[in-house]
Amino acid sequence: MCGWGVESQLEGKSGFVSGHRLGDAAALLKSVVHSGIGLLVILVALMFSTQARAENGPEVYKERCAACHGKEGKGDTIFGKNLKIRPLDSPEVQAQSDSDLAAIISKGKNRMPPFDRKLSKDQIREVIEYVRSLKPQP
Ligand code: HEC
Repeated sequence: MCGWGVESQLEGKSGFVSGHRLGDAAALLKSVVHSGIGLLVILVALMFSTQARAENGPEVYKERCAACHGKEGKGDTIFGKNLKIRPLDSPEVQAQSDSDLAAIISKGKNRMPPFDRKLSKDQIREVIEYVRSLKPQP
């Protein structure tokens, strides 16, 4: 008698629990659908923004320059060390004018390849802006 009572009580409880779970699952599904739409919006926004951003200095630098000059321009790459590149944030490099730097970037210098066919004038200007931003802030 007593055992039955407990069992049916348990059954009742687990029934309640699974009912509850079902509710949770529905809520979860709802939020997944919602966040799915949110995710889509974010993805589309990202796609557009990376397209626009592909033009700008940091992106150009990361794609075209970092392999030799290092992520922060310090030349701390295998290439950079072998080629003895001066750190882009060093006073010697920063002392050069924008047009000096533009000439180096577009025409190349010794082992530095020319970029005038690969980058637009705007991109070169923006990548120089980025190189300027590497300068240590006082
Ligand atoms: C294949 C490796 C390589 C890549 C890629 C490369 N560079 Fe260079 N870069 C060099 C080397 C080597 C030098 C040193 C040239 C010298 O003075 O003999 C140099 C020099 C420079 C200098 C002049 C530094 C100084 O000492 O006055 C600037 C500025 C520069 N690079 C910017 C860039 C930018 C911006 C990019 C990307 C658009 C880039 N480099 C991509 C190898 C590279």
